[in-house]
Amino acid sequence: MRQTIIEMLRSTGENYISGEDIASYLGVSRAAVWKHIQRLRDIGYAIESRERCGYKFKDAPDLLLANEVKDGLNTQIIGKEIYYFPSTDSTNREAKILAYSKVPDGTVAVAEEQTSGKGRLSRNFYSPRGKGIWFSLVLRPNLVPSDAPKCTLMAAVAIAHAMERIGLRAQIKWPNDIMFNGKKLVGILTELSAEMSRITYIVLGIGINVNIKRGEFPPELQDIATSLMEMKGEKITRIEFFRAVLEEFDKLYVEVLKNPKQGFMRILDEWRKYDVTLGKKIKVITSGNGEYFLGIARDIDIDGALLVETPDGIERLFAGDVSIREDK
Ligand code: BTN
Repeated sequence: MRQTIIEMLRSTGENYISGEDIASYLGVSRAAVWKHIQRLRDIGYAIESRERCGYKFKDAPDLLLANEVKDGLNTQIIGKEIYYFPSTDSTNREAKILAYSKVPDGTVAVAEEQTSGKGRLSRNFYSPRGKGIWFSLVLRPNLVPSDAPKCTLMAAVAIAHAMERIGLRAQIKWPNDIMFNGKKLVGILTELSAEMSRITYIVLGIGINVNIKRGEFPPELQDIATSLMEMKGEKITRIEFFRAVLEEFDKLYVEVLKNPKQGFMRILDEWRKYDVTLGKKIKVITSGNGEYFLGIARDIDIDGALLVETPDGIERLFAGDVSIREDK
């Protein structure tokens, strides 16, 4: 009902719409309409009211509310269903629950804050309220499990394309960290549920630091993390950027579903354009216990694996944490 009220208010633009008209359209009392308007104001909607004129829409809150995100979202598969959480421990966990309950391909779980955001290698992911875009996609592609790592590359490329839309050039560190000046802007965590020969679902968790000032990061992150706002030098409208990411991801995903081989080839080509890893000396952490090896990143292959030259030959890497060693 509240969504209908918002739509009615929006559709009248600069004009007022009377409480009576809204009430009769919805088949409720004027008092009930007034209560809904109050509730919308509590959420953060700016709605003007004037005696004998009614109500006028002024502004939507800076929240990633499902209906606000969907409004004007131009996608074929992604974001047809969006689940919004003011606060949750992890949207990846929420997305897995949604996946069990058979939500459609492309369903989104998004949160204003995560109290226990999950990073790779069992790390935590800092996800403060209202300052970033913390979300997970539930994907059900008709692909084989070995295609899953390429879906992670797809997400990185989609974000790079969305950044181009706001005039920012992404730098991607294999497989999927998006960096600015050597600091991380975006993290991606892919979780897979599969049978031997087919993917049951993929949960693709994406954390984008949007409007976090350097001093707002916890001290231990200040030298290794940054945000789109720091990069652009101005505040970014989260909801617009979120829509851009969903749209760019949708374009790549639709292409992959139509023709996986060709779609993934294009994604790998795009990925290489933004890559900052290839040709560099790197350190690869391979487990949570800090085990690592050193080598030179040479290429990514058709499966999205990083080919690392080591004294013992070429290592084909599907997962791991890579840091670039500029010094040596
Ligand atoms: C990493 O770089 O280590 C991956 C970080 C992934 C963070 C995102 S935020 C949304 C989603 N929910 C989580 O709990 N994690 C991912």
